[in-house]
Amino acid sequence: MIILDNSPSLLQFENVFYTYPGANQAAIEDLSLSIPAGKRTAILGHNGCGKSTLLLLADGLYRCSAGVISWQGKPMQYQARSLNQWRQRIGLAFQDPEQQLVAATVEEDISYGLCNLQLSQSEIVARLDQTLSDFNLQELANRPLHYLSLGQKRRVALAGVMALQPQLLLLDEPTAYLDRLQTRHLMQELDRIHGNGTTIVMATHDLDLAYGWADWAIVLHQGRVLVSDQADQVFNNVTLLEQLELGMPTLWEIWNALPMAFRDTANGTLRERESPPKTVAELRSRLMQYQHCQ
Ligand SMILES: Nc1ncnc2c1ncn2[C@@H]1O[C@H](COP(=O)(O)OP(=O)(O)O)[C@@H](O)[C@H]1O
Ligand SMILES: [Mg+2]
Repeated sequence: MIILDNSPSLLQFENVFYTYPGANQAAIEDLSLSIPAGKRTAILGHNGCGKSTLLLLADGLYRCSAGVISWQGKPMQYQARSLNQWRQRIGLAFQDPEQQLVAATVEEDISYGLCNLQLSQSEIVARLDQTLSDFNLQELANRPLHYLSLGQKRRVALAGVMALQPQLLLLDEPTAYLDRLQTRHLMQELDRIHGNGTTIVMATHDLDLAYGWADWAIVLHQGRVLVSDQADQVFNNVTLLEQLELGMPTLWEIWNALPMAFRDTANGTLRERESPPKTVAELRSRLMQYQHCQ
């Protein structure tokens, strides 16, 4: 089922199929979806449901065997020049940053992508400086990539993608292997990127992360879209999430375990009762508000 709100769609998949060479089952099967402009979309689903394949198709690294992938209604063309233009609008950060990083140092790696855009030398230097500063990488600029920690490599890989100024950023399991602090920093970077107008799509099997971050959610199962809707609607669809054994976000579960009287009165209105807190800080503030009123 595909539901879109009023946001215009940036990227569309229509009845897309993809089968890996030699595989006897399609990884993506008759998949249709729309990525709403300006939103933070989470793509959810168990390992193997097709999240990474979908992102690789979206970036034009794989070619679908049937169906159409379009950008604002214009179908993707697979000639080198069209793909090059396509990838200026859409940036993909791989799950494994090692696959993304190609040069010897941080600065060289970010410049590499910029050189491929055939920009003037002064524009390359300006964008490189801006990117190093945006991602707080100035001190690491000349550091060989193989000396960096995984979290740092991920930051460099993301910086390299963002230096190209894509309108749509695709992230494949961006918090995999990161510790809590690195995850917090990454999420702050994503807030800044989204705040600057970039639409973001994140494939993740981390329900808690998606719950706190996404405003739109797409659930995949066996290469198909099961639901695409406002994130709150998806997380409220307990039947679907339980059927899929995806579990529920921890904060959502805690909220629903609290007495109805509290959920009714903590925020006053019924509308707010329908939207559980998105962060621990929000939950705490609602609890304090409630205690205060008693
Ligand atoms: N390189 C590959 N060759 C063959 N099959 C693959 C390859 N990569 C993924 N698959 C299969 O395609 C399906 C979707 O995988 P993937 O897109 O990686 O899922 P997810 O990212 O949701 O874990 C799975 O059944 C997986 O085993
Ligand atoms: Mg994956």
